[in-house]
Amino acid sequence: MSKLKTVYQCQACGFASPKWLGKCPDCGAWNSFTEERESPKTLRAKPSLAGSAAPQPLSAITGATEQRSPVGISELDRVLGGGLVNGAIVLIGGDPGIGKSTLILQAVGKIAEQFGTVLYVSGEESPEQIKLRAERLNINSDHILLLPETVIENVISYSAEMKPSVLVIDSIQTVYTEDLSSAPGSVGQIRESAAKLMYYAKKAQVPVFLIGHVTKEGAIAGPRVLEHIVDTVLYFEGDRGHPYRILRTVKNRFGSTNEIGVFEMSDSGLSEVLNPSELFLAERPENVSGSAVIASIEGTRPLLVEIQALVSPTSFGMPRRTSMGVDFNRVNLLVAVLEKKAGINLGGMDVFINVVGGFKILEPALDLGIIAAMVSSFREVPVHPKTIVFGEVGLSGEVRAVAQAEQRLKEAEKIGFTTAIIPKGNADRLKDRSGLTIQGVKDVEEALEYIRR
Ligand code: TYD
Ligand code: MG
Repeated sequence: MSKLKTVYQCQACGFASPKWLGKCPDCGAWNSFTEERESPKTLRAKPSLAGSAAPQPLSAITGATEQRSPVGISELDRVLGGGLVNGAIVLIGGDPGIGKSTLILQAVGKIAEQFGTVLYVSGEESPEQIKLRAERLNINSDHILLLPETVIENVISYSAEMKPSVLVIDSIQTVYTEDLSSAPGSVGQIRESAAKLMYYAKKAQVPVFLIGHVTKEGAIAGPRVLEHIVDTVLYFEGDRGHPYRILRTVKNRFGSTNEIGVFEMSDSGLSEVLNPSELFLAERPENVSGSAVIASIEGTRPLLVEIQALVSPTSFGMPRRTSMGVDFNRVNLLVAVLEKKAGINLGGMDVFINVVGGFKILEPALDLGIIAAMVSSFREVPVHPKTIVFGEVGLSGEVRAVAQAEQRLKEAEKIGFTTAIIPKGNADRLKDRSGLTIQGVKDVEEALEYIRR
């Protein structure tokens, strides 16, 4: 009898090694190897998309019309780049309990109404559980077929028989192929199952939604392998204490990335938030120090968000710096710039920064907003409630121009702001000044002059 062969596989990238390793030589992940039984069957005969086709000139290829079918949930269609494309595989990743299954069930409801049969494969919940959720969401249809199945070959053969308009797999971590003996959820299984699905989706021209869980570190389990295979990666994020959820495009072969869709979770499911700026600013206290509104851009979409800062004398030897929703290092950097370039010494102060609504903002235009909020809190002087700020701050205290200034200003005007403090570089080049009073500032010191007023 031959000895059972095992390999160690990196759960982050799929690298295989005959021995256990502490650090993956391929992707650099630590402690990511687990032992998996090597597959007895050879997997060499991979299905190929092209079959036995010979090379052909690009100009001779016809029939490449990209047909988009809008799902009917505009925030979802936006991140998909306009709607579903036949044969496209869309991965929706997110933390457990964030609302992936809810979102997909609502989408399925709309799709079934418009395009007919949808096959919903669930390896996580029983049909009864899904029914209960559907009742809460007011979804009922003969065209939604539930299939509690985890063997990918069976899923594909059911799907091939039924020819659904859309196939949903909830979740990719629960399905497995019988070709491999490793456990469901391991990198090998995820890769093989996804590859089989992709082959099926492209051949049968069926759009497929995959739901994927996210590991503690924030990556979709089996991340790289999966992200390469699928056409679109959407990331569902948000803070569980807040009702807002953001669906973000991370990769899209059929549209722009960095688009976002905004949803609100209620007791009857997710509803679209068509005007997020208004909603995020609804509870903003006016004339309170330590709050500033910035005009941010997410993809093509301007978004006004409130930044709050609390600056107070520290009661310990070491001042505390905490940031939520913004980069911690960025805050430290801005504190240093304030000290050196504007003479505002926060050395003995605790500094807390928070982006309201559980948002995460990484773009540099946020800098001036953080500065405004910190200084406002430090001096206990509110920023004028109808003023917005944006701009990148450099290490020598200069305020640098940012992209898409016009769009930011237009959104601010729409929501009712009257003044904008923006980089001089932007102010000088504005084509459309909106109806706002615009203050172009070249450095932090100058910005603080205007913020104080
Ligand atoms: P779910 O879609 O099951 O999350 P995932 O599939 O990402 O794990 O959503 C679970 C959470 O959503 C749960 O905590 C309850 C909440 N929820 C509502 O608040 N309202 C609703 O109508 C539904 C269906 C769920
Ligand atoms: Mg779920």
